[in-house]
Order: sequence, then structure tokens, then C-alpha cells
Amino acid sequence: MNIGLIGSGGREHALCQKIHESKLIKKIICFPGNAGTAKIAKNIKADILNFREIHQLVQFHKIDLVIVGPEEPLVRGLVDYLRKKKIKVFGPDKFASRLEGSKAFMKKVCKSNNIPTADYKICKNKKDVLNFLKKSKLPLVVKADGLAEGKGVTICSSKKKVLNISEEIFKGKFKSSKKIVLEEFLEGEEASYFVIADKKTFKFFGTAQDHKRVKENDKGPNTGGMGAYSPAKIIDKKLEKKIINKIIKPTFFALKKKKIYYTGFLYVGLMIQDNEPYLIEFNVRMGDPECQVILPRLKTDLIKIIKNVVNNKLKQTSINWHNKKSMTVVLCSKGYPGKYKKNKTIKNLDRIKLSKNDFIYHAGTKLENDQLKSNGGRVLNITSVGTDFLNIRKKIIKIIKNINWKGGFFRRDIGWKIINK
Ligand code: AMP
Ligand code: GLY
Repeated sequence: MNIGLIGSGGREHALCQKIHESKLIKKIICFPGNAGTAKIAKNIKADILNFREIHQLVQFHKIDLVIVGPEEPLVRGLVDYLRKKKIKVFGPDKFASRLEGSKAFMKKVCKSNNIPTADYKICKNKKDVLNFLKKSKLPLVVKADGLAEGKGVTICSSKKKVLNISEEIFKGKFKSSKKIVLEEFLEGEEASYFVIADKKTFKFFGTAQDHKRVKENDKGPNTGGMGAYSPAKIIDKKLEKKIINKIIKPTFFALKKKKIYYTGFLYVGLMIQDNEPYLIEFNVRMGDPECQVILPRLKTDLIKIIKNVVNNKLKQTSINWHNKKSMTVVLCSKGYPGKYKKNKTIKNLDRIKLSKNDFIYHAGTKLENDQLKSNGGRVLNITSVGTDFLNIRKKIIKIIKNINWKGGFFRRDIGWKIINK
């Protein structure tokens, strides 16, 4: 089979690596990929939001199956577009992608189906905000309704801040959002639970914990994710049952009642409070960097799984995992998530010796005249698999020291919750 992979981040390099290991594939084309995918696949420059262009390229390269990595093309309806053209494609359609594309939609699904989540109010103007403020305790969380590249959520400890942030969003700070979701702040521990779904069923696809804040000890502004590990220790069998029965099944059921069948990966972002799961967010894709820790633990051929999902044969497909732990640390451009410089040369990568349990997934990288350059905020994901999180982290940090990239920084404390306990 020829596979087309949409996206260019660390998640897509990790997907590309697994696809490359599959016995079922002939060639992989990445649209547009990065310097990491270039080593195991063919990168083709493309605007992933220009569906006509993608369709033409898919036909030209005789692609049998398209796998969509990031949320934006999903939310905008790439899957619907390609399906209409009779192209096989893995990912949720436009309607189902509203679970991530509109926080207001997601909250309404929760409310109508008794899915545990933070109390909230959808606000379209200042008056709505003031009404909610009257009856709520601080801190409060202000969320832009639509996609905002991970920058749409602000935790506010004063009413003034709630009003200021809301006003910015009403005035059009994020193109995708004219309204906000204002919600109560949930205390607890965050964890992510993943499933893969076809029209008939869904199956477990790993757990992970991300580290969203830029600085050690979880300080500083939110980022796309500074590192992650898998599995998430906090999710035991009892909690898993609650996640499935209280959150995932009612969500799929609510969509099915509208004749919408969720297919693809679903990322369930949770706050765990007194052993009870509360839904913080749905993402209609794998997480980044969560994908980079989940996929190295996958034993079963990824393309076999995805092919069966696309043909609605997931029920008959067993998904097996290595009984190992994994961690990834993100090497970022200095300044991220604020202003940072691109085009910084990364010299030593080819000289780094990796064991079969170590992976360097590229994210914001590109090749220019055969030189590796940074091309984004999150640049490399250094990942390792093993039996003990402390040793895995030590190994990762050793690799980062060997890379010795002067333009970068990283968090040394990924996994602190489980390592220091
Ligand atoms: P989201 O984009 O909805 O995942 O929000 C980004 C991050 O904000 C989450 O990963 C949490 O760390 C935090 N967050 C979002 N909603 C809440 C909430 N209701 N209570 C506490 N923290 C939250
Ligand atoms: N790491 C968070 C996300 O992928 O949304």
C-alpha cells in the first residue's frame, strides 16, 4: 500500500516511523513532513488546508490510504472531502471533529448526556460573562471556543482578568472564535486516555501524561507540550472503567443518535479528582508529544490496525503493547512559547548513536543544503523506552547533552510526579 501522511510535527514523525516499520506498505508520502520523515519517506511540499491540492497529489502519487495527523484539516473537513472523492482516509469527519473544533459543542454534548466535566457557561458578550461571574468562585478558566493552537485557554485568578481575556477573544484575538466557554477550575491530576474507533467499536490506544507548562516544577505559560510519559500511572483498571462508561461511551452514543460515527483516534484529556474522571477536552487526533511515547510501545503493525479501522474491522483486530515504559523530552527553541528564532543550525544529530530503544523524532526541523535547521518552537523529541522512568530520563538527558544544541532548552523534570514519589 502507498500511504499519505498529513502533517509535519513530532507526532507525524512518530507515525511515519511506525508506518515505515509496517510489512504492508510500499511507499510513504508526507505532506509536507519534516527533516526526520525525509529519511524514511518522501516529503512533498503542500498546503494541508488546500483540499483540492491534497486530492490532486494523492491521485498523482497513487496513494491508497491517507492518515491525517493534526486537528486543523480534520476540523475543516479534509476527511469528508477526500471520502467524497472515493479516497480511503483515516480520521474523524467534520461534524465529529467539532468535539475538538468547538469547545461549546463539546460542553453541550457533556451536558445533554451527563458526562462529568467542569461547570460552564457559553458566553457571547460581556453581559453573559458578568452573569457567570456573579455566581462563580475564582479561579475561573476562559477558553476560546474554536481552535487556538493551544493558546486559547487562560486560568484567571481575578474577575478583572476574566473580563480582559474574554474581551480580547470577543474582539477577535483568535479568528476561529467569536464566543468563549467560561468554566470552573478543576483541581486534581491531569491524564490522557486514548482510543481508536471505527464505525462499530472502539479500542484502548494507550495512556500518557503531558507537561504543558514551559518551566520546571510546572511553572510559566502553557505550551503545546514539553514532554510526556506513558503509561499514566494514575489510570488503573477501576478508573479506566469509569472513563469508558461515564465519558467515552456516552459521547459515541450521543453522536450515533445523530447518525454521526466517530472514526479515528480520540484523545480524552482528563482531570482526576478523588478517583473520579472529569473531561477537560477532547482532541480528535493523537496528542503531540503523547504520540511519541505511545507508539514506541505499540507491538501490533499500525497499518494493519488503521487499514482494519477504515474497513470497519476493528473488532476482529487485536492491539498489543510492549510491557515497557516510555518518555519523551522536547528540545525547544530558546524563547518558546514566546518569540524565538528559526533557521538555527543543529550540528551533531548524525553523530548521535542510538540504541534500538531510543528515538529522536523531529518536529520543527528542515533540511537546507543538507544542513539540519530549526524550523519551529518545538524542535526535537528525544524519546526512550525502558523499565524504569528515572533511568529512561537519565538516558534522554544524556542524548540531549550529546546533541549539545546551543539554540535550545528543555525541561529536566519530565515525569516528576512519578519519579519523586
Ligand atoms: P484545553 O485546551 O482545554 O486542554 O486546556 C489546556 C490546559 O488548561 C489543560 O491541559 C489544563 O491544564 C488546563 N485546564 C483547562 N480547563 C481546566 C479546568 N476546567 N480546570 C483546571 N485546568 C484546566
Ligand atoms: N499535548 C497536547 C495536545 O496534543 O493537545
